[in-house]
Amino acid sequence: MEYISGFSKLSKEEKIAWLTKNYFQNAQKAKELLELYWNRDKKLQQLHDEFSENTLSNYYLPFGIAPNFKINGKAYVIPMAIEESSVVAAASKAAKFWQNKGGFKAEVINTIKSGQVHFMYAGDPEKLTAFFEENKENLISSTKELTQNMEKRGGGLLAVKLQNKTEKLKNYYQLDCSFETVDAMGANFINSCLEQIAKTFENLADQNSYFKNNPIKIVMSILSNYVEECLVRAEVSTSIENLMKNPVEAQEFAERFVEAIQIAKVEPLRAVTHNKGIMNGIDAVVLATGNDFRAIEACAHAYAAKDGNYSSLTSAEIKDGIFKFWIEIPLALGTVGGLTSLHPMVKLALEMLKNPSAKELMKITAVAGLAQNFGAIRSLVTTGIQEGHMKMHLMNILNQYEATAVEREKIVEHFKTNVVSHSAVLRELEKLRK
Ligand code: MEV
Repeated sequence: MEYISGFSKLSKEEKIAWLTKNYFQNAQKAKELLELYWNRDKKLQQLHDEFSENTLSNYYLPFGIAPNFKINGKAYVIPMAIEESSVVAAASKAAKFWQNKGGFKAEVINTIKSGQVHFMYAGDPEKLTAFFEENKENLISSTKELTQNMEKRGGGLLAVKLQNKTEKLKNYYQLDCSFETVDAMGANFINSCLEQIAKTFENLADQNSYFKNNPIKIVMSILSNYVEECLVRAEVSTSIENLMKNPVEAQEFAERFVEAIQIAKVEPLRAVTHNKGIMNGIDAVVLATGNDFRAIEACAHAYAAKDGNYSSLTSAEIKDGIFKFWIEIPLALGTVGGLTSLHPMVKLALEMLKNPSAKELMKITAVAGLAQNFGAIRSLVTTGIQEGHMKMHLMNILNQYEATAVEREKIVEHFKTNVVSHSAVLRELEKLRK
């Protein structure tokens, strides 16, 4: 294996030449593939190159839409960037199902985010508390320059609290700061404020004789992606007889559905897969709208475990003949800043959502997760997941075996009435090719 220094300083062509020469058997073929995925529009390509470092090419994901979503009485088409077959289809199907049953209702419960200055201090805790209380206003006012624009938009630094964490770790304290970042995801804003607060705190301590001998040692200042107070709830409900034409089947379906959710509530082996299905819908919208899916994922799973046991993010009940299904999930999303004004496809996605506020996007995204989970559970407790899944996967299998247009047409027709499996598709292909 080859090592290299100064790689980032090479031109894109030089980087590709080095990589393909050293790591590929057929350097020319690898180079051609990387170049095939370049955009013809040089300016657009440069824009994408500059999103990250050492960019050699682009990596495509399908960009689709799930139409017919009714959310709080309004019609939406939801943009989704995802590679997994059947996710968009399941979302669209769920949207259609609920469209004439009142649609989805969604509300934002809160939008507060937080960040912490983590520090170590071995001195008297009471002295620290007194010092903090004395200087709290100074800490806040030292961020004025950073917060003034955010304040104009209705956000800002909301509060700074001193937290004693020494029971968890010797000498460990935090300045726990809460923020409202309005339509921005706010990571840069929060981190800049925290670093300023940390600097001010250290400087003030430096001027104090007690803290000179008992120093406050800042370890780090960073936002928390655990945004349990940036919370949204989405819900669907209808009378049981509305769920299906046959009332006995409808009752049975509703009961099985609720049991499936109860299982995911108590059994982590199921809950992880259950929540993964929810995140199929959520991540697809998060990606399409240029948001940070790693932050959303990390937070969602921590929230799912907030009661000490990893559990379902969705809930369901039957009460007085009404079937109700809902999700409550923290989502730190932005519709300004970050990629939102830079990535042309993100701009397009936001425009089709009528340029939503961050709160509106939280509702739409939670609905996409709930719809996805509805689709998955409905399949799981009725036909099983594979029927729909393999139908959608059929194209991938045909592509894998380089099926011609005629072969595709014949095979798609065949599997309209037959069960799809990898081996069954291969058998049909072989039959045609004989
Ligand atoms: C597959 O990507 C997602 C499902 O496994 C979710 C679930 O089991 O609920 C179908």
